[in-house]
Amino acid sequence: MATLEAIKYSRGKLLVLDQLRLPHEHHYDEVSTAEQAFDCIRSMRVRGAPAIALVAALALAVELHNGACYKTTGDETIDYIKSRLDYLKDSRPTAVDLSNAIDLLKAVARDANDDALPPPKAKEVVLNAYTEAAERLLAKDLENNRSIGSHGAAWLQQQYNASPNRPLSVLTHCNTGSLATSGHGTALGIIRSLHSQQLLKHAYCTETRPYNQGSRLTAFELVFEGIPATLVTDSMAAALFALHRERMNIGAVVVGADRVVRNGDTANKIGTYALAVLARHHGVKFVVAAPTTSIDLETESGAGIKIEERKAEELTQITGAVVNADGSVDTSRTARVAIADQRIGVWNPAFDVTPHDLIDAIVTERGAVVKGGDGKFDFKQVLPERW
Ligand code: MRU
Repeated sequence: MATLEAIKYSRGKLLVLDQLRLPHEHHYDEVSTAEQAFDCIRSMRVRGAPAIALVAALALAVELHNGACYKTTGDETIDYIKSRLDYLKDSRPTAVDLSNAIDLLKAVARDANDDALPPPKAKEVVLNAYTEAAERLLAKDLENNRSIGSHGAAWLQQQYNASPNRPLSVLTHCNTGSLATSGHGTALGIIRSLHSQQLLKHAYCTETRPYNQGSRLTAFELVFEGIPATLVTDSMAAALFALHRERMNIGAVVVGADRVVRNGDTANKIGTYALAVLARHHGVKFVVAAPTTSIDLETESGAGIKIEERKAEELTQITGAVVNADGSVDTSRTARVAIADQRIGVWNPAFDVTPHDLIDAIVTERGAVVKGGDGKFDFKQVLPERW
């Protein structure tokens, strides 16, 4: 079966799916320089914490492959790589995967430099080390997501004693699937794994205002995968939870993360915090799915997370395809429609922070982390080397 791919990469060539055109049109842009990657990330043609990091890392690999670095020595080549990565770091501030990937790639390039080698050889060794490390990030992300899917499904199965006769319904927010990662997805990966084990009754996805990652991307991906799913607006979640009491509709909320800090506070798409409060009120488990590359042990609590604020037009206007009289979509045209008085003041934070006390489990590729008796998440279990 065909799979959805946000990123198509082979050495020297990077194609990125333009997610602004989804779900109506599948168009890949060639991204060959750091500037093109910066623009692709900033304009949200690619989005989702892991996918952003991968596009930045791989675009620079392509740029280097095409001979953009005119430096001659190993040291100069490292300085070039560092300056390009520092430039890319500013494309979007909240997701930590990008800066974690950048720190790792800088370290790899630095460690590969060998003063004993003649300059052209030293340069070649540094460039090769960079490229191989960027390519490893891509492969590792897919592997991580598959593991997150199985750990998350196993944790939920155990919590609810779910079985094919007693499957579980799950609500998710924003987009965390193949389109936000190298494939499979994080929170959506857990839903995919539950579904493949016949443990999923139904998936609910929120529209995710204002940018509609839920309706444009997650709903599309769920339909594409044939997973039983229903789209709701963000404001319908409370009503859905209330039904849960009577009809066992929702067993868990599963979301992704852009940054999980040392105490477990988690930045994710705006609206996540509200869902966590609702989940707690209704006795529903709240699960964060994130690779360890989304964990930031340098920041103590959510108060230290920089939240990106985006432009007013994302609230006051909407882009859609034109619907023909027969209900079909005209993929050749999009329309930008004003949905508010254009002079109104707007506050548009892209993310919010869910306090750790509202989170039941943080599922990583190395297993599910839960709080100890002291109410604290202990990331030593999954990140002993970084603790
Ligand atoms: O602003 P976006 O579309 O990049 O935000 C994406 C999200 O917030 C995702 O939920 C998050 O990055 C998790 S990605 C697996």
